Amino acid sequence: MTIALGIPTLAGKRASPGPRPDGATELRDSWGRVATDLRISLTDRCNLRCTYCMPAEGLPFAPSDQLMQADEIARLAAVAVRDLGVRQVRFTGGEPLLRKDLVDVIARVAALGPRPEISLTTNAIGLASRAQALADAGLDRINVSLDTVHAATFLAVTRRPFLARVLDGIDAAARAGLTPIKINAVLLRGVNDDQAVELLEWCLARGHQLRFIEQMPLDADHSWERDTMVTAAEIRASLDESFALVPTTTPRDGAPAELFDVYSGGEVRGQVGIIASVTESFCSDCRRTRLTSEGAVRSCLFSHAEVDLLGPLRAGASDSTLAELWREAMWAKPSGHGLDAGSFATDSFVQPERTMSAIGG
Ligand code: GTP
Ligand code: 5AD
Ligand code: SF4
Repeated sequence: MTIALGIPTLAGKRASPGPRPDGATELRDSWGRVATDLRISLTDRCNLRCTYCMPAEGLPFAPSDQLMQADEIARLAAVAVRDLGVRQVRFTGGEPLLRKDLVDVIARVAALGPRPEISLTTNAIGLASRAQALADAGLDRINVSLDTVHAATFLAVTRRPFLARVLDGIDAAARAGLTPIKINAVLLRGVNDDQAVELLEWCLARGHQLRFIEQMPLDADHSWERDTMVTAAEIRASLDESFALVPTTTPRDGAPAELFDVYSGGEVRGQVGIIASVTESFCSDCRRTRLTSEGAVRSCLFSHAEVDLLGPLRAGASDSTLAELWREAMWAKPSGHGLDAGSFATDSFVQPERTMSAIGG
């Protein structure tokens, strides 16, 4: 399906990325961006069924022998931090807490040099009993998906009655020092879009940083519609009724979230972020590279092409061969949404086959 997104991308029109210059060590793409932020998906499984991500019946999951094992993840992460200049490693899913060996994976990555910053994006189900062990293994901080603090709305969005478990997980993470805790919320029209102020109050009261994410067309049901998605402008307008938002002066450094200081009663209460992937694209400053749970490089969230590293690794490839495959994959990174490497169509977008649950956000 082709969807008009109308997203600005890097300027330029050309038929192919051209040859990669010799000698580059880092993950440089043909548009001049350098990736230093690695997102590793650990599984495509999830214990929720969020309507904007998974279908009610679930998806066919990858067989476990096709998933990267802990030592394979550590090997690829070592190549990334030692040879390719990666400085931050984020584990995602599906739901990464479903990996029984998560503590081991984190400990192995924390032992690498130079030691990357390690974070986790999770739905927090099951985190209550594991937060301290994850922190002890070297996890620095977490981001939690939470779209509402009402049990009935949680059930409507996720199709599962697990709000209490998520809230327990967040509290345990705070006790374990996995801070700053960032809360990711997707607003859906007619479902939770009237809860933005309440959710922000809830986060401010606990010292968590809330970020509102514009819904992207990465759901299995293909239900995304430009006309009904809640936009960043609408979110700011609804928050403006209760708070004063002042853009922060800290450099954004390629982060998806634009940050604001939140004032009420003349005092700063905390910060809120808005991730306007659709209406205010941040592709031109993207610093991300991704590994799927099956060990393939995705140069972009919206890529149609993947470059397998796990197959060559299992066949005996050297670190330098793996690094070279990774550099080549990133060289072909599209300039932004709606662009395949080699083609150019700034106003059209073809949804990738992988859903968000199989990419990891
Ligand atoms: P930190 O702010 O460093 O904690 O990282 P983050 O915001 O990148 O992490 P998180 O996993 O919480 O991602 C939040 C959301 O940002 C994801 O759900 C995506 O919706 C969005 N996002 C992350 N990376 C990209 C990207 O490369 N492109 C787009 N369009 N959105 C992204
Ligand atoms: N659009 C925007 N964000 C999404 N997420 C999952 N699916 C979508 C989508 N279609 C978010 C989740 C999670 C993060 C990794 O991605 O809320 O916090
Ligand atoms: Fe699971 Fe995350 Fe997708 Fe929700 S958004 S179904 S928590 S992978």
